[in-house]
Amino acid sequence: MAAAAIANAWALASSTTVGASAVGAALTALLWPTSRTLDFENKHVVITGGSKGLGRAVAQYVVEHGASVSILARDVAVLNKAKAELDHMCTFDGQKVEVYSVDIVNQDAVVKTLRQATASLGPPSFVFTCAGFALPGMFLDVTPDVFRRQMDVNYLGTVYTVHVRTSSIFSYSAR
Ligand SMILES: NC(=O)c1ccc[n+]([C@@H]2O[C@H](COP(=O)([O-])OP(=O)(O)OC[C@H]3O[C@@H](n4cnc5c(N)ncnc54)[C@H](OP(=O)(O)O)[C@@H]3O)[C@@H](O)[C@H]2O)c1
Repeated sequence: MAAAAIANAWALASSTTVGASAVGAALTALLWPTSRTLDFENKHVVITGGSKGLGRAVAQYVVEHGASVSILARDVAVLNKAKAELDHMCTFDGQKVEVYSVDIVNQDAVVKTLRQATASLGPPSFVFTCAGFALPGMFLDVTPDVFRRQMDVNYLGTVYTVHVRTSSIFSYSAR
C-alpha cells in the first residue's frame, strides 16, 4: 500500500500529462457557481505558483478566457517572464496581469500581498493554490527537514492563502 502510494507520488510528480486532474485537485474555487460552469470573463483570479508548471498553465487558461490575474511566487525573473507571456495573451483593455514576489510560508507577506492584489484588481473570484514542490523518495531517504518544508509550503502556504480570502468573504457578508 505504502509502496503503491510512493509509486503514485513519483508518477504524479514526474508526469506532464496529468494536468486536468491535477488542476482540478489544486483548484480552490471560493465562489463556486452552482451551475459548475466556471466563467472567468472579467474576473480577478489569484494564482499562487502561477509563474511555472501547473500554476502557469492555469494562468494561461484563465487569461485566454478573459480573466485578470494576480500571480504569487518568489523568483522575480521567472515572474516577469510569465507576465510578459501572459500580457501578450490579453485580449481587451483593462485585462491585467500582476505579479508579486512573495514566499507563501510567510503568513504576514501573504496577507499583505493579497490585500495589495485586492486593492488593485478587486476581490478575487477564484483562488488557485498551485505553489508547492515535491521531493519524492523512499520514506527512510527523506529527511525530517524535507517533510517539514513540504508541510510549510504545500500545506500551510495553501492554508494562509485560502484563509485570507475566506475571512474577507465572511467579513463582507457580515456587513
Ligand atoms: N506538475 C504536475 O503534474 C503535478 C501533479 C500533481 C501535483 N503537483 C503538485 O503541484 C505543485 C506544483 O507543481 P508544479 O509541477 O507546477 O511545480 P513547479 O513547476 O516547480 O512550479 C511551482 C510553482 O510554485 C512556486 N513556489 C514554490 N515554492 C513557493 C513558495 N515557498 N512561495 C511562493 N511560491 C512558491 C514556484 O515559484 P518560485 O519557485 O519562484 O517561488 C512556481 O511558480 C507541487 O506541490 C506538486 O507536487 C504537480
